[in-house]
Amino acid sequence: MNLLRNNIAVNHANVLRESQNAIFNRYPINLNNQMENQITIIYDTMWNGTKIMADNISKGIREFDKDVKIKIFKASYANKSEIITEVCRSKAILVGSPPIMKGIMSSISDLLEEIGILGLKNRKAGAFGSYGFGGESAAIISEMLKSDGFGIVEEEGEILWNSNEMSPSMCFNFGKKFARLTNMK
Ligand SMILES: Cc1cc2nc3c(=O)[nH]c(=O)nc-3n(C[C@H](O)[C@H](O)[C@H](O)COP(=O)(O)O)c2cc1C
Repeated sequence: MNLLRNNIAVNHANVLRESQNAIFNRYPINLNNQMENQITIIYDTMWNGTKIMADNISKGIREFDKDVKIKIFKASYANKSEIITEVCRSKAILVGSPPIMKGIMSSISDLLEEIGILGLKNRKAGAFGSYGFGGESAAIISEMLKSDGFGIVEEEGEILWNSNEMSPSMCFNFGKKFARLTNMK
């Protein structure tokens, strides 16, 4: 490996040129042993409808389980490594996006692709999103989560626009039910 040839490695730490496998074997990483009583909610949004859903879902989760750790990330703002670290720690994740042109926001699809590479097991998931007409996003997210190895525990939560007066309580109940279905106790 000629990593440093013709490169200026400013502030670089040691570079291991040999015996990398011996080093890796001394630090077995099993992401599936790192699960905690944690639910991570990841969303993206254009006009905040899906963010409001995420906030109300998290209130429902908290209502069911006072002890569960809840992390919420807006995918396009948060650091991707930090999100993925928290996903690895989570017994369950919820992922939300509004539909765009019958697809989902690229921040969410990119993230779900990366999560799939990790090969996580024994974790639960759910999908949600605010929509305008077809409401395609939550079903797309569910399919991606399934192919990433997550078990879908609840039907998709979808809210039409933001104007629906029922939506806060619907999301609250969705979160409460999700927490019950993913509860390890
Ligand atoms: C460019 C664009 C494409 C959209 N495509 C769809 C669509 O395919 N299906 C749908 O149900 N809504 C679609 N919508 C509507 C949004 O999904 C809807 O307004 C949603 O409530 C936005 O959620 P947000 O407040 O979380 O951004 C589209 C909106 C925009 C701006």
